[in-house]
Amino acid sequence: MKHLSIFSIFWLFGKLFSLKGNPDKMKVMILGIDGYIGWPLALRELMKGNEVVGVDNFFTRKRVKEVNSESVTPIPSFQQRLKKLKEKTGKSITFYRGDVADPKFFLEVMRREKPDAIVHLAEQRSAPYSMRGLRQATDTMVKNIVSTLNLIYAVKDTVPNAHILKLGTMGEYGTPNIDIPEGFFDIEYNGRKDFLPFPKQAGSWYHWTKVHDSNNLMFANRLWKLRITDVMQGVVYGTRTKEIDQTGLFSRFDIDEVWGTALNRFCAQATVGLPITPYGKGGQTRGFLSLEDSITCLDLALSNPPKEGEYRVFNQFDEHYSVRELASMVQQVYAEAYKKTPEIRSVPNPRLEAEEHYYNPAHEKLAKLGYRRSKELRDEVKIIFRDLRTYRRRIEKLKEVINPRTIWKDSPTK
Ligand SMILES: NC(=O)c1ccc[n+]([C@@H]2O[C@H](COP(=O)([O-])OP(=O)(O)OC[C@H]3O[C@@H](n4cnc5c(N)ncnc54)[C@H](O)[C@@H]3O)[C@@H](O)[C@H]2O)c1
Repeated sequence: MKHLSIFSIFWLFGKLFSLKGNPDKMKVMILGIDGYIGWPLALRELMKGNEVVGVDNFFTRKRVKEVNSESVTPIPSFQQRLKKLKEKTGKSITFYRGDVADPKFFLEVMRREKPDAIVHLAEQRSAPYSMRGLRQATDTMVKNIVSTLNLIYAVKDTVPNAHILKLGTMGEYGTPNIDIPEGFFDIEYNGRKDFLPFPKQAGSWYHWTKVHDSNNLMFANRLWKLRITDVMQGVVYGTRTKEIDQTGLFSRFDIDEVWGTALNRFCAQATVGLPITPYGKGGQTRGFLSLEDSITCLDLALSNPPKEGEYRVFNQFDEHYSVRELASMVQQVYAEAYKKTPEIRSVPNPRLEAEEHYYNPAHEKLAKLGYRRSKELRDEVKIIFRDLRTYRRRIEKLKEVINPRTIWKDSPTK
């Protein structure tokens, strides 16, 4: 419990800003608040007037260093982030440093804080990291699944009516040769009908942890009627949200082969004159959405919680694109803006995945709650380029870690 005492000063400070008694305001606990999505989500909720409590153990910072990489946008320490936040906005976050997979630590935080909603982002989120070898596969399996179990039990024991908003991934579904529904589908088999969870076909140890989490959340809902939103999120790209524009308090932005997602990586390659490198044939199709829209969707889910005892699944993405389409979009936008056409050079695919396939996932539930995308992909890519050009030197230093070295079929037993 040692981190609790270190951070109790923040706790006390946070209490001064307690919003209890105001029914329109929520206390939102963000697990993984130091991450790519956690930080801008915290800014959004604070600016709306909600109280924010954060938990993080800084695993992403540590694990990114492990592969000799770092965020392209310079990220100050979390203490510095809090200080700058206070200077720029006058607002504070109650913060606990610790591991959500540690049941004692986490239960104690929940007992103290009793949030109205908990957003669970605190998981190992890199598919390649989970495929680096048995150690990383085990680490990902244990930490991710145990953290969600701890959350389930802590909510049951402390705030059984609270909303659990859990981040899963569109990658849970894999790429079946039929349409993908939002979580459940009608099925008829041997003359009988039912409404069942859609079969999952994840493609990495990381993606399987999310499937196991979803199963555990569904079961927790059946057992204890917890309110749960399980978000199947597409790949997120971008450097900005409206609160980042207002405050200049950037989130992290990873571009290496382990931690960088496709579009972010392609933009970084074009920025420093490297070829854009789609894997294999490039027909792999995925759902994508901007950081701004990802935060908007999560905020919308928080403002429209599930009914008592409801488990619901949202597919959260805007459009689906093949990796080939993304690469040529990045190429075109760069060429138009900077009068130089980056080369596209396909590299052997380090992953085991279908390179051409059918893909048609549904995504209607968030739209029904009022979600509309805020920007076109092309416009967002222009903004990413503008931001990345400021950090060209930092990207140059990371050139060696962009190209794939984690070969999934060779994942070693060590
Ligand atoms: N970024 C994407 O494109 C994307 C897409 C689909 C789903 N997701 C999911 O969204 C969530 C957040 O993603 P992100 O991109 O912000 O990841 P991130 O790695 O940038 O952020 C996760 C944060 O959680 C912290 N963390 C990890 N394990 C923890 C633990 N056991 N205890 C306490 N803190 C812990 C990390 O230190 C980090 O700050 C993840 O669950 C990820 O799987 C992300």
